[in-house]
Amino acid sequence: MTGTISFLPLRLRGVGLSRGGKKVLKDITVSFDHASPKTVIIGPNGAGKSLLLQICHGVVRAESGVVEWSNDPDSAALSQTQSMVFQRPVLFRRSVTDNVLLALKIRGFPKQERCDRAAEALHRTGLSRLADTPARVLSFGEQQRLALARALVVEPRVLFLDEPTASLDPAAAHMVETLIDDAANDGVKIIMTSHDLNQSRRLADEIIFLHRGRIKEHAPAARFFDAPENDLAQAFINGELLWWRRRSIFEDDDGPACD
Ligand SMILES: Nc1ncnc2c1ncn2[C@@H]1O[C@H](COP(=O)(O)OP(=O)(O)OP(=O)(O)O)[C@@H](O)[C@H]1O
Ligand SMILES: [Mg+2]
Repeated sequence: MTGTISFLPLRLRGVGLSRGGKKVLKDITVSFDHASPKTVIIGPNGAGKSLLLQICHGVVRAESGVVEWSNDPDSAALSQTQSMVFQRPVLFRRSVTDNVLLALKIRGFPKQERCDRAAEALHRTGLSRLADTPARVLSFGEQQRLALARALVVEPRVLFLDEPTASLDPAAAHMVETLIDDAANDGVKIIMTSHDLNQSRRLADEIIFLHRGRIKEHAPAARFFDAPENDLAQAFINGELLWWRRRSIFEDDDGPACD
């Protein structure tokens, strides 16, 4: 459905964003390419990971800087190229199957293919037995898997995943990791966030460590986990609570003063 033209690399230059009167993304300059099939963005709560993914996906507009796909694709072509699973999935108030069928319809898949594709996507995400269930009654983990089924079924070339296993039991998380690996092996560029450092070690080809809206480190995964260069990144992977560290290391702390 998406043709053979690659729209990668996706480049961000000097991207900034404010929310609630505060700068939540600051001078983000980064490039995403097939050379690293799976990019995992990590960092503490509130670092800006979800907003960064949303800017890349085009559902949030950067206030400053440039977001640029290769080959100058038009917005219609881009929307055919990428899918995203949001941290809090938004599902249609229809059955599980209808959610997947609608995604296929919106992307223009031929009517006669849609049922088979939907059934296969539900099978791959372990949702076949819930096919006729209203999506709104699904458990949170089931909703996450349905959101993934819907994102994968349209055969994106770039897949954005925001905490795709956050609410999943170990078996379901393993299944989703396998689906992510399979997609990457099929040439889909994966850009995802994760709070699970073991999962990040297993999946990532490269790591982006984000802290308070800034990229503090961007490195091949093996090197990052072996010897992170940034002291905040080191503290993070050691499981330290970063806001307990000495103020002097927060060189860009622009939070409110209490005294
Ligand atoms: N509408 C809003 N108004 C005010 N602040 C906001 C708004 N949306 C996001 N923020 C702030 O932006 C910052 C980044 O949010 P974001 O959701 O991207 O963080 P995150 O790294 O994904 O966190 P988590 O690990 O908890 O998912 C947070 O401090 C958040 O409070
Ligand atoms: Mg988030």
